[in-house]
Amino acid sequence: MTSAAQNELMTRVGPGTPAGALLRRYWQPIALSDELKGKRPVRPVTVFGESLVLFRDETGRLGLIARNCAHRGADLCYGRLEGGGIRCPFHGWLFDVDGQCLETPAEPLESTLHTRVRQAAYPVIEKNGMIFGYLGEGEPPALPNLDCLAAPESHSFAFKGFVDCNWLQVLEVGMDPAHASYLHRFLEDEDASQGYGQQFRDDVDNIPTTRLMREYARPEIRVEETDFGYKVTTLRNLDNRGMHVRITDAIFPTAILIPLSREMTVTQWHVPVDDTKSYWYAMFTSFGAPVDHDTMRAQRLEVYTLPDYIPRIGKANEYGYDPDEQLNDTYTGMGQDINVHDQWAVESQGAIQDRTKETLGTSDVVITAYRKRLVSEIRAHEKGEAAPVKADHAVPIAIDAIAPADAWEPIGIERDLARRRGSDWAAALMS
Ligand code: FES
Ligand SMILES: [Fe+2]
Repeated sequence: MTSAAQNELMTRVGPGTPAGALLRRYWQPIALSDELKGKRPVRPVTVFGESLVLFRDETGRLGLIARNCAHRGADLCYGRLEGGGIRCPFHGWLFDVDGQCLETPAEPLESTLHTRVRQAAYPVIEKNGMIFGYLGEGEPPALPNLDCLAAPESHSFAFKGFVDCNWLQVLEVGMDPAHASYLHRFLEDEDASQGYGQQFRDDVDNIPTTRLMREYARPEIRVEETDFGYKVTTLRNLDNRGMHVRITDAIFPTAILIPLSREMTVTQWHVPVDDTKSYWYAMFTSFGAPVDHDTMRAQRLEVYTLPDYIPRIGKANEYGYDPDEQLNDTYTGMGQDINVHDQWAVESQGAIQDRTKETLGTSDVVITAYRKRLVSEIRAHEKGEAAPVKADHAVPIAIDAIAPADAWEPIGIERDLARRRGSDWAAALMS
């Protein structure tokens, strides 16, 4: 059982908290490259309860610095992009991407004040449409060893969405294999050819995923500890039709990896805005054809509003709940978009789920394992002992396949290898 103290320890991530300090030791997505497109590449970013401004200077360099000016605290999001940095409109102080003050133009001509003034600044890396920040102590590690970061931009697509609750419960729905058979159940199967870029719409070895999830709703879940986190194998015994094997991963501390379709996977991070709000950041990776960026973006912009990527369907309109649909079409009555289902599930748990009142079962095995590791890593990091996950960990894999029921074990590795060998970019990385 989770105690109130443990729940606080795991969920609170603001400055000075033990969990915040641990999570900051990893690169975390903080924005999409899309957010800096357009006339003026400046965006406010709040992450781990800290208010920052992200900007691209005139030479294309990215800066992530404290949002309130070091002079008298005005908001740098309204700054002027000029002179090799961002200039505060209040008295013209100019800061570069490293947070160094370059000019204090109202000061006497001989003033050297600017040499002693700095805004807090954090390293950033841009990769495949996503911008990662490192807010931790010490030197940042390398980016983790993930397919989504190794794939070329043509085979990647990045998107994000706002969730109105604590990051941990959103991560926990992502690593929970049992819920897909219920929360995302479709009472009728859809034509897989209509499901490009959508979760649970492809066929697995000619059986629609929707049907597998619906008809085999008591899976066996196996968890294996790895150097990157947990490999999760979910088994559905399809009677005389073999074993459905779904391999997903919990990538410590804030990400998951899941199969989207035969050719695509999704790597998804859950990044705290503060203790009661978060964003999911997803990177879709294709091992086959290049990703159709325009279609993927248009599909998602139909259901999210800019500039803050807030879902159009949510708490304010009861998640689109329709009791007739719940009787006839979907398990939730909340439409076909599985992100809406997940969002309802986690937001309805409360801003920070009270885990002292929950009742975990056998099917929550991944969540139990992950929380144990999270608490022990937080404690170890507090004592200065933690060795955060090394970037050169094994590459996690994500596969959906049907194998012979008595010889299913090798299928994950076999399918993954076959997919890599058949993929231009992944095959090149193998040799
Ligand atoms: S408050 Fe920014 S320059 Fe004065
Ligand atoms: Fe889900």
